[in-house]
Amino acid sequence: MPHLGVNIDHVATLRQARRGAEPDVVRAAHEAELGGADCITVHLREDRRHVVDEDVLRLRPFVSVKLNLEMAATDEMVRIARDVQPHMVTLVPEGRAEITTEGGLNIVKQLSRMKDVVTALEDVGMVTSAFIEHDPKQIDAAAECGFNACEIHTGPYAHIFAHNGGDFLHEGLKRERDAIADAGFRIIERGMRFNAGHGLNYHNVQPIACMTGIAELHIGHSIVSRAVYTGLREAVREMKRLIELAPAGRAS
Ligand code: PXP
Repeated sequence: MPHLGVNIDHVATLRQARRGAEPDVVRAAHEAELGGADCITVHLREDRRHVVDEDVLRLRPFVSVKLNLEMAATDEMVRIARDVQPHMVTLVPEGRAEITTEGGLNIVKQLSRMKDVVTALEDVGMVTSAFIEHDPKQIDAAAECGFNACEIHTGPYAHIFAHNGGDFLHEGLKRERDAIADAGFRIIERGMRFNAGHGLNYHNVQPIACMTGIAELHIGHSIVSRAVYTGLREAVREMKRLIELAPAGRAS
């Protein structure tokens, strides 16, 4: 069964709405762990719109499962990651105007920069993951850079699902899902871990969760949204249950 990484950025989004102290990300991480989270993720953005440096510093000793820091491949972020030493770093592209991460990293275009960043992070013992689209060229480039994992961007899959009434038999959805599954095989063949995330929710997660070889799912918005009604512990528990029930080895 794939592990569940819970992204708690939007707990910080709510706190920043009043620039106050609550809700507290450390307490949220604890609740997510009690619900069964295998990993806690935060994205430290260049503009610090939700998570701030102090959150990452406070979470590092507190999180008893894996701490995954999402960040852009900038010098500033590499320095912070080397200081804080989360268990894993996921490199993402970052645009100032975007509401959330919009596309995957273009590793092909910045191969030598990515190699340097991966080396700088792995030198101090961190696991590195690249957030990419299901393009075989990007997967091969990630392998060449030495990434330990690739997280395939499931945003387009989630978008097709939402815009076609949640029809699992929709041709476009099947094509997108097949492309993600093929990417998974290629990632594993090249010796990396196959992760996936973005836009996954309680309705669309199972066809991804049951893919062959999938190691981790990274989910934020839908879990934090559900937590408004049920509390975070229960929201995580429910997502874990769906992942667990996704039929093994089937892609539908
Ligand atoms: N994975 C990555 C790399 C992301 O940037 C995000 C969003 O911060 C997620 C997963 C989680 O996406 P969502 O909030 O849509 O579940």
